[in-house]
Amino acid sequence: MTETTPKSLKMDLMAEWMQTHWLPQFGDQACRIVAVDVACTNDSVLSLFPATFGLAGGYHFAGTERIESGVVLPVDDYALHTRKITDQTGAFVHEFNGAAGARVQILVMCAHYSDSGYHRVALAAVPEAFLPAWYDFAGECYRLAYSYEPEDRVVIIGGHSNSFQPTVSLEDVVLPPALKEDILGDIRSFFQRGVEVYRRLKLKPFRKLLLAGVPGTGKTMLCAALAKWALEHKMLVIYVSSARKRQGEDHGSSFSKIEYALATASRSKYPSIILLEEMDAYLHDDEKALILNVLDGSESVINDRGTLLIATTNYPEAIDERIMKRPGRLDRIFIIPETKSPETAGRMLRQYLGTMWHDEHETLVERLVGYPGAFIREVAVYALTQVACQELNVLPLALLEESYQRLKEQLEVRDDFLSHPHRSPHMGFAAAPTNGQHAVPALAPSDPA
Ligand SMILES: Nc1ncnc2c1ncn2[C@@H]1O[C@H](COP(=O)(O)OP(=O)(O)OP(=O)(O)O)[C@@H](O)[C@H]1O
Ligand SMILES: [Mg+2]
Repeated sequence: MTETTPKSLKMDLMAEWMQTHWLPQFGDQACRIVAVDVACTNDSVLSLFPATFGLAGGYHFAGTERIESGVVLPVDDYALHTRKITDQTGAFVHEFNGAAGARVQILVMCAHYSDSGYHRVALAAVPEAFLPAWYDFAGECYRLAYSYEPEDRVVIIGGHSNSFQPTVSLEDVVLPPALKEDILGDIRSFFQRGVEVYRRLKLKPFRKLLLAGVPGTGKTMLCAALAKWALEHKMLVIYVSSARKRQGEDHGSSFSKIEYALATASRSKYPSIILLEEMDAYLHDDEKALILNVLDGSESVINDRGTLLIATTNYPEAIDERIMKRPGRLDRIFIIPETKSPETAGRMLRQYLGTMWHDEHETLVERLVGYPGAFIREVAVYALTQVACQELNVLPLALLEESYQRLKEQLEVRDDFLSHPHRSPHMGFAAAPTNGQHAVPALAPSDPA
């Protein structure tokens, strides 16, 4: 396009201004003008953007300043329900700080392109080297702007992806019926009646449940099923991931993620559930006091539709007395047990064998009592794999028993090894502490979906 071509598209006008007034300062450095979501100039998003949020290359968002451009006029949208400025048009210089004093300024321009429906477009001028950080930033802006409306997905805080869709149903989780009803009853009554009671008593409507149990008993599975249930009831579901961020930013199990999850919940117009897996990992000495205050509710803004925190742990003993024993910090603790009765073990085996179940398999059920669900699932999955490999039409009892025996022996060898470690320094094998009689090997998926 030549100098003289008349430009009518807002995109072209903004891009031209960027090229003539902004990009020359970058000299030979390769830059791109990229189309971005208007969330990147939304004041509510930018003012909430957490300074601790790590972007690729170790950058952090440090604030923004609106500048004069002449090609786009500054117009602010005002959200009546929150009484805050949301979308803004105009030109903005976003600042990002990196390691060793590095500083990058990104020009973002946003304009209306139609008088009806407030349609807007936005562009950013980004040095190529900064693109990975920019995409992290833009992705988070998008999420902050749109994730408060419950969709059919769980919002992930601090994980490698932004959201997931839970597929497990509550019926799939096999637990003693009274326990399951107790947990569901607690959750239902909190949202149906409890929130109002908290409000009447001038308490923050914030309830906290802990699911404790040895590995493989279905805590993660139950969280996923509760997430699906909550989404179906139009709630916002937030999953706090303990995954470490890439690019060397270690926000693994850090308090800032919990704080961020609570802030996200507090901005929602909907009741929210926060899932906090492996809570014990967050209780490092330097952040414990902060967590205590959050659990008290004293340092958090709580959504007035109610926020329910569901935490899980394998190591309740690692959660100190100030949390476990002081009423109000954790409201209820549910122990998620290994299978306790032939009835539960049988139901679990039947569920995982599906159409391959046969009444003669009942004879194994008694021996499965005392093991966690993950063990029973593995017994079933291994047996079914053998059926497929041998191209059988039915599952013979002998094959199922062999699968059970094999997994049981594997665990015994493993437990024996862990109790008498004679590890080679070259193996790089870090033994996880186990606290259950039947702790299972790594059978549990890490993804809650
Ligand atoms: N109660 C259960 N009902 C049905 N399936 C179960 C149950 N418990 C475990 N399983 C099966 O075992 C898998 C692993 O269980 P899960 O990851 O939920 O255990 P967990 O209690 O979260 O373990 P960890 O404490 O190690 O995180 C589940 O995905 C499911 O297939
Ligand atoms: Mg788990």
